This record gives sequence, structure tokens and C-alpha cells, in this order.
Amino acid sequence: MHLHKFEKIWMFIGGGTMLAFLIVLGVGAFLQGTQPPSCLTTIDPENVEAHESFKEENLGVQQIDDQQYIINVVASAFNYDFGLDEEGNPVKNMRIPAGSTVLFQGTTKDVIHGFELAGTNANMMLEPGYINTVEVTLNNPGTYTLVCNEYCGTGHHFMTASVEVYKD
Ligand code: CUA
Repeated sequence: MHLHKFEKIWMFIGGGTMLAFLIVLGVGAFLQGTQPPSCLTTIDPENVEAHESFKEENLGVQQIDDQQYIINVVASAFNYDFGLDEEGNPVKNMRIPAGSTVLFQGTTKDVIHGFELAGTNANMMLEPGYINTVEVTLNNPGTYTLVCNEYCGTGHHFMTASVEVYKD
């Protein structure tokens, strides 16, 4: 079979591009461990308190090691529940020392809510019946605003909180 010179060139470019994409994907997945966000952990949305991570006393910031934190959150229309502070007020601002790794674990009691810590890579959906997690390392000091980025009803725009990253 005779192939025109240009056909050969373009087959080479097409095949080469495909190979390059597969290599990039393979390196990302197998060498760097890039995985899609997990949503495989299920939870009863009517009874989230039964799960250890979402008991009232375990909500909000939990320090698990030096510069290792977990922040547990239960979303509902139109609020993020991070537990209560010492005075009994709902926690809306959390403080984390710069350079820390934070695992956010969240779920929702009602509809789908968003969970985006603006200016960081923490961006996930909170879905009823599932526990969603995202881990980020917060290196740059500043105040980061947490917003719900899934339209969830009339109070959608009231769903905010913040994380302050401070130098210690
Ligand atoms: Cu919750 Cu929008």
C-alpha cells in the first residue's frame, strides 16, 4: 500500500501526540499518585452524628500531629457546621499554622453543597450519603474564604466561613 509522504508525517504526529498524552497520564497516575477525588465512603445523611468524624465534639479543627490537621464539616442549608467554640458560638473562622497539611472531611445532611477554599486547591462537592475529602498543604499565610459553589437554595450566598493561615 502506498502512503503519501504527508500522510506518513501526519500519522507520525497523531500517533506521537497520543503516546505523549498516555505517558503524561501514566506518570501522573502511577508515579505521582494522582487520583480522582474519592466519593466511595458512604454515610447515612439522616444520621451523620453516628459517624465518628461528624460527632459534635469532632467537628472543626483536629490536630493529629505536628503540622497535620483534620477539619471535619457537616453542611446543611445554609450553614457549615464546624462545631462550637468555648463560648458556645458556632465556629466560622479557623486558624492553621502556615506549612500545615489539612485534610478536609465533609458531608451534607440535605442537598449537594460546594466546598471551595478560595485561592487553594481545596475544592469539592459535599453530597448527601457520601463523605468527601480533600487534602491541601497551606503554605502561604493569609485569610482564605470558604464558599459554597453549588447553588443550594435561597440562602446559598450565606454559606461562608474562613481559614486563617498564620506564621508561627
Ligand atoms: Cu450550599 Cu450553595
